[in-house]
Amino acid sequence: MIFDTHVHYDDEAFDADREELLLSLPRNSVGRVVNASSTLESLEKTRALTEKYDFVYGAYGIHPENIKGLEIEETIDTVRRFCDTEKTAAVGEIGLDYYWDKDNKQQQIEWFRRQLDLARELRLPVIIHSRDAAEDTLRVSKEEKLGEIGGVMHCFSYSAEIAREYLKMGIYLGIGGVITFKNAKKLKEVAAMAPLEQMVLETDCPYLAPVPNRGKRNSSLNLPYVAEEIARIKNISPEEVCRVTYENAQRMYGLA
Ligand code: NI
Repeated sequence: MIFDTHVHYDDEAFDADREELLLSLPRNSVGRVVNASSTLESLEKTRALTEKYDFVYGAYGIHPENIKGLEIEETIDTVRRFCDTEKTAAVGEIGLDYYWDKDNKQQQIEWFRRQLDLARELRLPVIIHSRDAAEDTLRVSKEEKLGEIGGVMHCFSYSAEIAREYLKMGIYLGIGGVITFKNAKKLKEVAAMAPLEQMVLETDCPYLAPVPNRGKRNSSLNLPYVAEEIARIKNISPEEVCRVTYENAQRMYGLA
């Protein structure tokens, strides 16, 4: 069985065939998925998916790209209400993104801290998005004692040295389609170094489809390619990769 720890099935890329695709997952060995919200609107859509499909769990939070124009206190209260629903797996996705937005770093950091606080208050793990913001993400994570909160560095894209810092805190590394890319030397090094017990599989679909489907719309059905590449790097079987990462995801999200 495969656990896809990070999906966006509320995305409009799935409007044409969402129902058909989702219903096909269990018979294709995808046992569970966590739909990560990223905007105010996607909180509601995520909850609807968790209510409709028993294998879909939800993460609730505001992505750093989408905080502009939102009132922080009011929005955190809204996120808190969504987290109080059944089948909540995590607060997320939250974090820092200096690739798209460099002009509001302090505002991003404030939202990151507030949502980490919320996760601590609710005793939920977090899903962290971090792009071109390695230093600040690590600094804030340490200051906020991320290790006590728990969670995953989603779509991990930094060096092995930075990976070690998160592994020491007990944080999981989310590995997806990028690991199959020829130029993903750094991520392959990270996967070789990190213990399998601290890795989880994720698609971030509809984005980041693995080779041989790179560039196409991604879905959880592509995760076997990711598992195969991790298996090759670690010289174990793809079955073992799927089994261990499934257990890791269950433990990380506190699911039975
Ligand atoms: Ni995502």
